[in-house]
Amino acid sequence: MVGDLILSGLRIPAFTPSELRFGYFETAATIPALLYETRLVMFNLFRRRAAKQRVSRKYTADEITIGPMLAADLPAVWRLERASSRTPWPVSLFQDLIEDSRHTVLAAKVGTRLVGYLLYEHKGEIGHIANICVHVEYRRRGVASCILTSVLKRMRKEGFAASELEVRQTNMDAQLFYKKFGFITYEIIAAGYPDTQEDCFLMRLPLAEQSHNTLRY
Ligand SMILES: CC(C)(COP(=O)(O)OP(=O)(O)OC[C@H]1O[C@@H](n2cnc3c(N)ncnc32)[C@H](O)[C@@H]1OP(=O)(O)O)[C@@H](O)C(=O)NCCC(=O)NCCS
Repeated sequence: MVGDLILSGLRIPAFTPSELRFGYFETAATIPALLYETRLVMFNLFRRRAAKQRVSRKYTADEITIGPMLAADLPAVWRLERASSRTPWPVSLFQDLIEDSRHTVLAAKVGTRLVGYLLYEHKGEIGHIANICVHVEYRRRGVASCILTSVLKRMRKEGFAASELEVRQTNMDAQLFYKKFGFITYEIIAAGYPDTQEDCFLMRLPLAEQSHNTLRY
């Protein structure tokens, strides 16, 4: 692969051809990007080994129902938020967003149990993923993959040129997850999260072939 980095005998797929094509080197500071990438790969190696020992069967798409989040789902959403996040979003925010036509708010259920959600904002030609969360007891079982696969299909149908999102520098679970779907980091905003002073990674996945040439990086 173009741009691979060899560190201590490890092949690090730091830059895919598309990352090079989209100007990763021009827009992100190369050295911090390489350091972040190396840390991510190391993290992945250790987490994968640990996860393999405990992960149970993965869910398939037909076992997960994905549909609009309803007001009746909000108590379950709050339980999920409290169990899964250090900074849970208030229920009132979900309430506002499900009523806002510029947002699509989706809930994922296994049977009747709410196990995850994803919400995205319609920002012109961009489908901006504002949040995705899977209940902590259901992680590494393919739930988020089912949700995102369905959402990207939906975004393509809705005519979005690309999907974008922001992710914290320390949130490596999420970075690995998005990378698996082909999202690339096209910019790093130093101390972009004022609460923790963490860097903010801006990631993007082009959805339409022609958007490779028209989107600015
Ligand atoms: C990120 C998150 C949504 C992933 O949900 P999930 O249902 O566990 O993800 P999946 O099981 O579909 O994982 C798909 C792939 O993502 C990567 N991945 C996800 N979690 C990972 C972890 N903890 N360590 C390493 N890789 C991980 C892996 O490549 C995984 O594939 P694999 O299991 O075949 O190796 C979940 O960890 C979460 O809810 N985190 C808290 C909320 C959050 O941080 N949201 C993102 C905000 S930007």
